[in-house]
Amino acid sequence: MSVEYKFPKDFWWGSATSATQIEGAANEGGKGRNIWDYWYSKEPNRFFEGVGPETTSDFYHTYQEDIKRMKEIGHNTFRLSISWSRLIPGGKGELNQEAVLFYNHVINELIAHEIEPFVNLFHFDMPLEMQEMGGWENRQVVDLFVDYANSCFELFGDRVKKWFTFNEPVVPVEGGYLYDFHYPNIVDAKRAIQVGYHTMIANAKSIKAFRSHHFKDSQIGIILNLTPSYPRSQNPADLKASQIADLFFNRSFLDPAVLGKYPQEFIQLLEEHGQLPQTEEGDTALIAANTVDLLGVNYYQPRRVKAKDHLPNPYSPFMPDWFFDNYEMPGRKMNKYRGWEIYEKGIYDIMMNLKENYGNIESFVSENGMGVQDEERFIKDGRIEDDYRIDFIAGHLKWLHQAIEEGCNAKGYHLWSFMDNWSWMNAYKNRYGFFSVDIETKERKPKKSAYFMKRVAEQNGF
Ligand code: NOJ
Repeated sequence: MSVEYKFPKDFWWGSATSATQIEGAANEGGKGRNIWDYWYSKEPNRFFEGVGPETTSDFYHTYQEDIKRMKEIGHNTFRLSISWSRLIPGGKGELNQEAVLFYNHVINELIAHEIEPFVNLFHFDMPLEMQEMGGWENRQVVDLFVDYANSCFELFGDRVKKWFTFNEPVVPVEGGYLYDFHYPNIVDAKRAIQVGYHTMIANAKSIKAFRSHHFKDSQIGIILNLTPSYPRSQNPADLKASQIADLFFNRSFLDPAVLGKYPQEFIQLLEEHGQLPQTEEGDTALIAANTVDLLGVNYYQPRRVKAKDHLPNPYSPFMPDWFFDNYEMPGRKMNKYRGWEIYEKGIYDIMMNLKENYGNIESFVSENGMGVQDEERFIKDGRIEDDYRIDFIAGHLKWLHQAIEEGCNAKGYHLWSFMDNWSWMNAYKNRYGFFSVDIETKERKPKKSAYFMKRVAEQNGF
């Protein structure tokens, strides 16, 4: 078959996951509790169909077969996260040796299958005891995180060559401190800003710790959900609101991570509204000296921004309003029930922005994916015929290819996700995997998209 879109040599093809979403065994193997275990025990009804984090795809027990499946569909890379509360129950102190064994097995098994492990250190899963100390609001927690990160580097750094400090650090800020979809369910913009700031201090300090090991051929990065901001109209208020949304949700993480400094406009805005976070002497130099080697870009949907023109924003007096699910999207939606807009060109816009304004940093698409409810609707002869997901992937890959043709430094593409998994408050509502998972029996079955991915990986294009 002829290949129209050929990707650069050694392109990374794979998928992404996170510990809480796939491991299961939430109360096994000496794992401590994290905020998800705790929140679910308090308010199970806030989770879709009352399903909690102990009911996931059970990767803790099935990793060997799953890694075989990855190999079968042509993965050469795979992202997992380490669970802080599994490795160090309580967040500080002794290592849990069962967890050390587990992660060693997973990493070794991946390498034995010639699948390079991409390891992320924090994916929304704060150990409960750390949250009780104030979570990211408390600078001591930042230092304890760096100790945990350093343990990971010491334990696995001889084999893991791609490290990430955080996945989507803006999400715990939005979810936990602005919009009430993560524990601790606080709604307070000033505290949200402090949390975001400390996350970036934790990022810089972990990078510094990583570099002190002088690992050969290793890189460290961060994974950001970059959501391009497009104003809904050209009127000046919408243009400004769009710029502010970009500052808050993209640039207040992207700029310190890649350029080593916060955008001046962001600092000014916080200053004008008396919202500057608490800082310590030396922070500016720390951030400047510890930028990332590699950037993971998670892209799902753009943000179409409209200025709030009537009511004040209940969350913050100066934040712009934008829509979530309740706005009729101009374009196509991810599924018939929910309104995530599909806009493939967004990936091109992000990549070109990285090329033009961020020194063309080495990057890859670390997540892109399509969450679909009630996917059983599409079963034919026992298999989910997810042509819509194939179109979705191909549509994004075409734009990624275009950006590469125009010189952007993108090295790979990971789908979210390898298999259907537990998606926080949405639990198993939206299915994202190349493999479907029956949550009762844990049986995995490849969807049609798994075969598409295999072909793409084998041909290095499509
Ligand atoms: C991004 C997050 O990293 C992941 O945890 C989540 O499940 C997916 N988006 C899908 O919403």
